[in-house]
Amino acid sequence: MSYQIAVLAGDGIGPEVMAEARKVLKAVEQRFTLSIEYSEYDVGGAAIDNHGCPLPEQTLKGCEAADAILFGSVGGPKWEHLAPNDQPERGALLPLRGHFELFCNMRPAKLHAGLEHMSPLRSDISSRGFDVVCVRELTSGIYFGKPKGRQGEGENEEAFDTMRYSRKEIRRIAKIAFEAAQGRRKKVTSVDKANVLACSVLWREVVEEVAKEFPEVELEHIYIDNATMQLLRRPDEFDVMLCSNLFGDIISDEIAMLTGSMGLLSSISMNSSGFGLYEPAGGSAPDIAGQGIANPVAQILSAALLLRHSLKLEDAATAIENAVGKALSDGYLTGELLPAEQRHNAKSTSEMGDYISQLVREGV
Ligand code: NAD
Ligand code: IPM
Ligand code: MN
Repeated sequence: MSYQIAVLAGDGIGPEVMAEARKVLKAVEQRFTLSIEYSEYDVGGAAIDNHGCPLPEQTLKGCEAADAILFGSVGGPKWEHLAPNDQPERGALLPLRGHFELFCNMRPAKLHAGLEHMSPLRSDISSRGFDVVCVRELTSGIYFGKPKGRQGEGENEEAFDTMRYSRKEIRRIAKIAFEAAQGRRKKVTSVDKANVLACSVLWREVVEEVAKEFPEVELEHIYIDNATMQLLRRPDEFDVMLCSNLFGDIISDEIAMLTGSMGLLSSISMNSSGFGLYEPAGGSAPDIAGQGIANPVAQILSAALLLRHSLKLEDAATAIENAVGKALSDGYLTGELLPAEQRHNAKSTSEMGDYISQLVREGV
């Protein structure tokens, strides 16, 4: 069986961490005698520079022809002067999510035993560990609602976005959250702002309806402001966090950092046919791009999720996850995970990729 992956590395640290994910995929192919074909396409700022638009036709066609998309990150200061819809994020990433209707975004964050020191949490809190998955609605809400834009002039000029959700859109993402919880610790925390937003009132109503189909799963509702705070105080009490588009964006950066770094959080974005785009939850990190110091773990773990969910290669996915776990517990860490006084021991992006590939080949 031969598989086809569309590789869209993008901008900033995207190509740097993608190179390491490719090394690890090569190691896994050797170990499990797999045949995976890769087609690389420009996206985001790189595509603007090379083709004049952030999502060229050949990139979209290449993604359509593939079994799955492995995505890096897009955006950066070089393209921020462009009109919003011509920029990498709104001109490529959001249209890709919309085009394939990738409504279901899952971002798993786990603080592994023995790696509590990487977390910025107080030690009595981090020592209890945590294991959370953020289930984020990805193709509706305030990101996609219309109208969106600007009107008027001078001091009367105004800008507006529309937050909207249909029952159907809420129901399908809520079901995914409850199904995920069934295979985990059986708790869903639905994050909203039902004390202010009409969308959140409907969100609660529909989530309550879905909950009835899953009597063995506990449901709690929490306001977004309280959620960001409770995650710092008692992260171990969360299991599945069900979020609308904007709130999931916020929660996912927080849970990433609770494990130690933005560079650790991988993600799946999937549609109802199971087609998926896999990407780190973080961005192009312009502040560290080009220095060879970015953490490639989120990109490598995204490749593992692709193997598991799109290619159904469970053993290969687990092999990568075990290798990453071993590398981190061996103290193989990029600089942002280390206190300043230990940063001279930091591993580079490519040293991380080399070591994780070696561990995959050795079958740890
Ligand atoms: P960011 O996630 O790029 O960076 C936030 C912070 O996290 C920075 O200090 C960065 O150095 C650090 N960081 C992120 N990934 C890291 C890694 N792998 N290793 C070590 N440190 C890492 O967010 P930002 O600075 O707000 O955005 C930068 C650009 O990326 C913007 O153009 C933004 O729109 C874009 N962005 C793209 C995506 C995507 O393509 N999926 C996601 C988020 C942000
Ligand atoms: C993410 C990113 C994107 C989002 C941006 C780049 C459009 O922050 O994937 O979390 O807000 O969804
Ligand atoms: Mn984000």
